[in-house]
Amino acid sequence: MNEYSEKAQQLVAQLTLDEKLSLLTGKNFWGTQPFPRLGVSSMEVADGPYGLRKQVGISDHMGWNKSQPAVAYVSGPGMASSWDKDLIREAGRHLGVEAKAAGVDILLGPAINIVRTPLCGRNFEYYSEDPRLTGEMAAAYIKGVQSTGVGTCIKHFAANNQEKDREYIDAVMDERTLREIYLAAFERPIKEAKPWSVMTALNKVNGDYCSENRTLLQDILRDEWGYEGFVMSDWNGVNDRAKALAAGLDLEMPCSHGVGEERIRQGLADGTVTEEEVDESCRRILCAVLQSEANRDPNATWNEPAHHDFARQLAERCVILLKNEGNILPLSAGTKIAVLGEFATEPRFQMDGSALVNPTRHDVPLEKIKEKAGGQVLYGKGCSRDPEEQAALLAEAERLAAEADVALVFAGLPAGVEAEGKDRKDMKIPAYHDALIRRVLAAQKNTVVVLCNGSPVEMPWEKDAAAIVECFLGGQALGGALANILYGEVNPSGKLPVTFPKALENNPAYLNYPGQGGRVEYQEGVFVGYRYYDVKHIDPLFCFGHGLSYTTFGYGDMTLSAEHMGDDDTLTARVTVTNTGSRAGAEVVQLYVAAPKGAVLRPEKELRGFEKVFLQPGESKTVEFTLTRRDFAYYDMELGEWYAPEGEYKVLAASSSRDVRCEAPVQYHPARIKRREITGWSTIGELRACQAGQEMYGQIRSILKASGNPRVLELPLFDESEQAKERVNDLPLRMVTLLSDNILNNDIMDRLIAECNQKALQTV
Ligand code: BGC
Repeated sequence: MNEYSEKAQQLVAQLTLDEKLSLLTGKNFWGTQPFPRLGVSSMEVADGPYGLRKQVGISDHMGWNKSQPAVAYVSGPGMASSWDKDLIREAGRHLGVEAKAAGVDILLGPAINIVRTPLCGRNFEYYSEDPRLTGEMAAAYIKGVQSTGVGTCIKHFAANNQEKDREYIDAVMDERTLREIYLAAFERPIKEAKPWSVMTALNKVNGDYCSENRTLLQDILRDEWGYEGFVMSDWNGVNDRAKALAAGLDLEMPCSHGVGEERIRQGLADGTVTEEEVDESCRRILCAVLQSEANRDPNATWNEPAHHDFARQLAERCVILLKNEGNILPLSAGTKIAVLGEFATEPRFQMDGSALVNPTRHDVPLEKIKEKAGGQVLYGKGCSRDPEEQAALLAEAERLAAEADVALVFAGLPAGVEAEGKDRKDMKIPAYHDALIRRVLAAQKNTVVVLCNGSPVEMPWEKDAAAIVECFLGGQALGGALANILYGEVNPSGKLPVTFPKALENNPAYLNYPGQGGRVEYQEGVFVGYRYYDVKHIDPLFCFGHGLSYTTFGYGDMTLSAEHMGDDDTLTARVTVTNTGSRAGAEVVQLYVAAPKGAVLRPEKELRGFEKVFLQPGESKTVEFTLTRRDFAYYDMELGEWYAPEGEYKVLAASSSRDVRCEAPVQYHPARIKRREITGWSTIGELRACQAGQEMYGQIRSILKASGNPRVLELPLFDESEQAKERVNDLPLRMVTLLSDNILNNDIMDRLIAECNQKALQTV
């Protein structure tokens, strides 16, 4: 129980019903109801998963009105590109320090929904297509922020995977998909890092609004995961306040001007809400209020130059080198370069909507590049939305590119193309950016394309570019970070947290997005991102986990602490990585587990751990991972629990999802083997797969043999050849009844089946 619980309980006992109801709804846009007579203050929240958005004037939840200046850090996928837990914890700490100095009690982040489609307008806030990477990054972020005494609010619970119709779309999926992908992303950070608050998503999941979803809020979040914090709604995200309260939603945000209170009052009158539920929600909110009060520091300050500098270091470890043909990068000082594109002077470095920050300043890439270049730098804006101006700018860009030794083209997604509240229409960068890239590529073979975008984009010109650098939205200090990377002062070490498919049509959600009639069916199931591209053998443009370095890394053999493993065991996997190049650098070692083929279709492999290792030239380090039952399991819908079937699994260490460097097998033995009832429609093959079934098959054959019926004796059941055995494997038991001239009639068969089911647990 939370250490503030008892005190909170006492306060609840002193509140009148009116006061309690007022506490369950925001006092205004950003705060909770204070009770001066009891010495209870208002708890203040503010946006900013990647930079504080504290509004003091007119407030909104879409980033329309300015907020106090704060540092804009790298975006969600940007942070996840670091694959660096310590670094993200540090990022969280910086955010917490700024929040504390601004008097903010809870930061409304991290935002961690799974990237299901590249079109989702808020992908720039979300970390990854993979729940493990997402979960680890979120846990690190929360620990960092909360280490400063500021709380976090993990959002949006759950399955807010598109902005189109986000207020009411029903995300419909089977339980396995929900558990393995969409909830798993939340489960780890909630259990491990204990965010003070959870924000519900606006959408529905399997029929119920998330804010009214008892399965999500009570059964799973509180009862299964043991969550003790409070749950708040997304802004304007409450539909039926009484139902929401009964389902487990504590705080409605923002203020609903008496409506929410009245609805709960009605609920109390008609019995859909109980006073105990009201008290319990008040207690949970007050725990956070008390914790906030204990942690506040009116003298807290922050150091802007140091935070800006950290924003640069962060960006340096997040930028991804996607391609580097002929080691065109790093550039040497003195090389004549042409810098082209509007993003070189006006970079797109941050998000939009409620994640929009009023940056304290920003580094201009062109200026930072000039500081390093030590030679002639040509610049051309290169593109414009105005066709006439565009023609002239393209001609100039072509000339400058040809004149230089290397061209650097800046392109990507301009602000407004991806935004909160709307999705993109396609996966392309705007035509006027695309035209610039193509024109420059035609004029200069040594071209480096630098991309700034919040989500994957198509790159039809990829083959012609010598190098491609992906920055996502790199934060206000991106300019300096990029210059350091381009000139080799920093060795790039980011890796893709999402797959970049060649075309939008390849995306697993393509046929089931954005849904219709208010429903979107997640028919691809657990096959999201690389899980889909792997199993379908579709080559992406750049795969999940991909990212190059200016050095190279060698992997030793994979060693496992055991050859066998059971449900209660842990398995240690070790692999040694060596920097085989001549520059210091960092490698992200990715650990995947591949399950054996079985009755349930599973991904070819799934990420189960990762570690970023920093290595000097020639240096080696051994990386260690601990695997538990859950790392081998899938969510079995019949059992209603996680289940790792018997069989040989492989543990893989990889440099990307498509670059496995070493592997080792382990034999898994579950404590309890899943029992699958034998029925009349079970096949002979299924019988043969388990001991009790083999015995039953023996009985079937004896009964038939004893009949002496020549027609029956000719059945392939008595043919001992491998071919015949293979053939009868697919034969259902009911068919045996039919083929046996009724010797083995349904009564006998049913008795044998019942005996067999009695006898033993059977393998799937
Ligand atoms: C967003 C939340 C945000 C809130 C407050 C909503 O529109 O979905 O993520 O925290 O506004 O600005």
